[in-house]
Amino acid sequence: MAKNKKLNISATSICKKNIFVTKTSQETRNLGKKFASILKGGDIVFLKGDLGSGKTTFTQGIIKAFCNKDFARSSSFTLINEYDIANLRLFHIDLYRLNPLIVWDIGIEEYIYGKNISIIEWADRLLGAENDNHWDIEIENMNSMRKIKIESKR
Ligand SMILES: Nc1ncnc2c1ncn2[C@@H]1O[C@H](COP(=O)(O)OP(=O)(O)O)[C@@H](O)[C@H]1O
Ligand SMILES: [Mg+2]
Repeated sequence: MAKNKKLNISATSICKKNIFVTKTSQETRNLGKKFASILKGGDIVFLKGDLGSGKTTFTQGIIKAFCNKDFARSSSFTLINEYDIANLRLFHIDLYRLNPLIVWDIGIEEYIYGKNISIIEWADRLLGAENDNHWDIEIENMNSMRKIKIESKR
């Protein structure tokens, strides 16, 4: 809790556009947890940033908030991980290994356009979805720190 306070984040503060700096992976997880509290069914979250920037770490926080469980593996090895939450599902999708030219051929729209929540790593590969309503999260690596920009694109 103290760490969340230090980050000075509240659900209402993550509304339109916000920039946060985290010093540890735990702080990034906590920010993901806090962010989860404003997510609702139908939301799509685009996660962008270099390899190792913290997209999976941030997602771990979101999943912890919804399922109260840790998940060990990065979804880079599986394209889509599914979690049951309340009366809907959360999809953690990682497009890292997918060629942007075939991204729509795998039926991804079945997952992202509906009543569920989807968190998408390497969302910049989802060509053509830029104008859809979504949360845009960009993580920038600054040595051990991370600059995390959260923006609502609506
Ligand atoms: N402030 C920080 N936020 C997130 N990760 C951090 C931070 N500082 C160090 N790390 C480390 O950086 C790595 C981020 O990995 P990961 O979340 O898998 O990145 P990505 O999914 O973007 O490839 C982890 O090894 C994590 O421990
Ligand atoms: Mg990752």
